[in-house]
Amino acid sequence: MIKTQEGIAVGTALTAAARRLEAAGVASARLDARLLLSAACSASLEALAAEPARALRGDERLSFEALLSRRLAREPMARILGKREFWSLPFRLVPETLVPRPESETLVEAALALVAAPGEGTRILDLGTGSGCLLLAFLSEREDAEGVGVDVSEAACRLARANAAALGLSSRARFVVGDWDAALCGRFDLVLANPPYVKDAEIASLAPEVARYEPRLALAGGADGLACYRELAPAFVRCLAAQGHALIELGAGQADAVGAIMAATGLHSVARRLDLAGNERCLIISLAPPRELRGQRDEFAGEKRWRGGGLSAKRGVGARKGHHAHIRQYAVSGPRSRRPRGAFASGSGEAGRGNLEETNATIDHCSAFQVMVR
Ligand SMILES: C[S@@+](CC[C@H](N)C(=O)[O-])C[C@H]1O[C@@H](n2cnc3c(N)ncnc32)[C@H](O)[C@@H]1O
Repeated sequence: MIKTQEGIAVGTALTAAARRLEAAGVASARLDARLLLSAACSASLEALAAEPARALRGDERLSFEALLSRRLAREPMARILGKREFWSLPFRLVPETLVPRPESETLVEAALALVAAPGEGTRILDLGTGSGCLLLAFLSEREDAEGVGVDVSEAACRLARANAAALGLSSRARFVVGDWDAALCGRFDLVLANPPYVKDAEIASLAPEVARYEPRLALAGGADGLACYRELAPAFVRCLAAQGHALIELGAGQADAVGAIMAATGLHSVARRLDLAGNERCLIISLAPPRELRGQRDEFAGEKRWRGGGLSAKRGVGARKGHHAHIRQYAVSGPRSRRPRGAFASGSGEAGRGNLEETNATIDHCSAFQVMVR
């Protein structure tokens, strides 16, 4: 316990906390202690560093101890602080959403390289959107693009919608609760998917931060970790535009097996992309046979590095059917004048009714994506 008597100094509190975190097996103990104290005191890291001798107030000590206890139980920093940066953008989190991983940026970068200069009006689908990080990162870079994020978790869709609003992307992002593409019809230029891909039996042996705190629905990939890829393969066939591409996140060593699953469904593997740690992190597939990718050399041609993250936390996955007794659509829209041409220009007008409006099973057709709500 941190001393609770009056007068403990910032520097002393940090040192004591870092020791306790180290003893609990936290690798980044000193940094985490500083970030937690910063949150407890509502002070910047710089402000704390500038006054190591300042005595903590009673409320600051109590708040620090409460946050520290959570980290000592190996709750991830992102969950304690309620946010995580991805693609240099801030994303809020809820217990039902995976903490975005830096290696998933590999998909965003590969997707951006696939679309030509802005102006093409790319339509993008994000299957298993979670916090919305993949879709929203892409939309933040392409003002002409618009997209739909799907998740079987209603809480995830609500959060993704809030993240879109916070990032000023509401007019081009829509979120639908559903089982992969079950609530959709229509085709997309790009389909992103970071499905659960951890073998069920391996989840318990992952780092406590993952095993205890990540939603099982975001991890569990069945007995062999590949169950969601098998579900997704026919979804890609239904959702991809003729010249479109799907970009699929891979777990360690899954590239060949996932490629075989896609091939068995008639899909073509076009390229693989490595994350910064050198792992095959992204498989690019298409309906049509491969052709040279715009602006990219593909992995088979010998490219060895691709932007992404160094983390290689295994994830797997889980759950699936039966979560969509009703499909609820979270329409997010801005003033029509601010929308890019064609963005959610719903014939029914439902998608244009104000910001962050939740529509419950009332929209049955949206011209941009033909999102079916049942
Ligand atoms: C590994 S997480 C990825 C989240 C986010 N896209 C990211 O990259 O951080 C997988 C997501 O798929 C969702 N999911 C799992 N099964 C699903 C299903 N059958 N249909 C739709 N989403 C599903 C989970 O709720 C979870 O949010």
